[in-house]
Amino acid sequence: IKRIGILTSGGDCSGLNAVIRAVTFRAIGTYGWKVLGICRATNGLMERPPDIVPLDIERVDRILTAGGTFLGTTNKGNPFAFPMPNGDLLDRSSEIIDGYHTLGLDAMIGIGGDGSMAILRKLAQQGGMNLVTIPKTIDNDVGITECSIGFDTAVNIATEAVDRLHFTAASHSRVMILEVMGRDAGHIAISAGIAGGADVILIPEIPYTIANLCNKLKDRQEQGKNYSLIVVSEAVRTEEGEIVSSTDPFGESRYGGIGQYLANQISIRSGAETRVTVLGHIQRGGTPSPLDRLLGSMFGVAAVDLIAQGKFDRMVGWRDRQVIDVSIADAIAQYCTVDPDSAAVRTARGLGIYLGD
Ligand code: F6P
Repeated sequence: IKRIGILTSGGDCSGLNAVIRAVTFRAIGTYGWKVLGICRATNGLMERPPDIVPLDIERVDRILTAGGTFLGTTNKGNPFAFPMPNGDLLDRSSEIIDGYHTLGLDAMIGIGGDGSMAILRKLAQQGGMNLVTIPKTIDNDVGITECSIGFDTAVNIATEAVDRLHFTAASHSRVMILEVMGRDAGHIAISAGIAGGADVILIPEIPYTIANLCNKLKDRQEQGKNYSLIVVSEAVRTEEGEIVSSTDPFGESRYGGIGQYLANQISIRSGAETRVTVLGHIQRGGTPSPLDRLLGSMFGVAAVDLIAQGKFDRMVGWRDRQVIDVSIADAIAQYCTVDPDSAAVRTARGLGIYLGD
């Protein structure tokens, strides 16, 4: 091994720069390799010449605490169906593979969620690329690993939002709704909801009914509580099992946001005064938490060590207090939503939080 590439792919999150820094430190400091940062996910490899930044210790030393990814990223460019300016979808996979070989890379580290990892793996198999991946996503839905880069920071931000809403809700005797991210998995909602002391948490894994939700709010009123807090994931499940999302497949809002939809339903049914906060991309921005920096540093070092051992097609992860590595295919196959039997769900129910039926 003489030269490796590193890229970030999919939605950004906090902690990515900590990974890039750790990879560079380990690859250069321990093994004496060259490290090339690839810009804007695989798009950088489509450019001629490829769009890259040579990385050295000096360049990455200060990025540990910076949010986002200084290499840039995208979640819109599936190379097997790449959207062209004229609207056509073009298979540009061979351009990326050529880019990798043109750069003389011996291996590549891809930091991404399950969607990005599936694409990178397909490219690696097609083009003889040596790939190691690192899981990142605020949604924490990558399989096998107990946590992915970005999740802890997002939960911290969402919890702080709940903490703040308590005061304003109490002052005005309102029902406050906080809509957080998590299209397919409710890990952020359930974690921040429990940590922040919410009264209701709605997630895509567990169906709810508006009638039972309103009963919960009524019970609280009867107990003399003058306000309630609801944390809702950006997608919820109706009692018929239908997933209703703030973002439909065309990127258009179906109900003007799940949070707003709930607020309208609650005020119609109960007469309560409601207000909605959509936390949005604030969850993905800002300084990474200490845990995300730690995890990013551990994953970065471990990924480089895998390459040094000639172990490819592997994803690093965290399990039982250890950094582990597993086959990328297994991690993708075991996509991880909130398990209705999990400690988090049992805890929420044990605390009397309405979490659906
Ligand atoms: O997958 C991570 C995520 O943050 C989801 O929770 C959210 O639905 C999506 O990305 C938003 O992506 P975009 O950056 O395209 O708005």
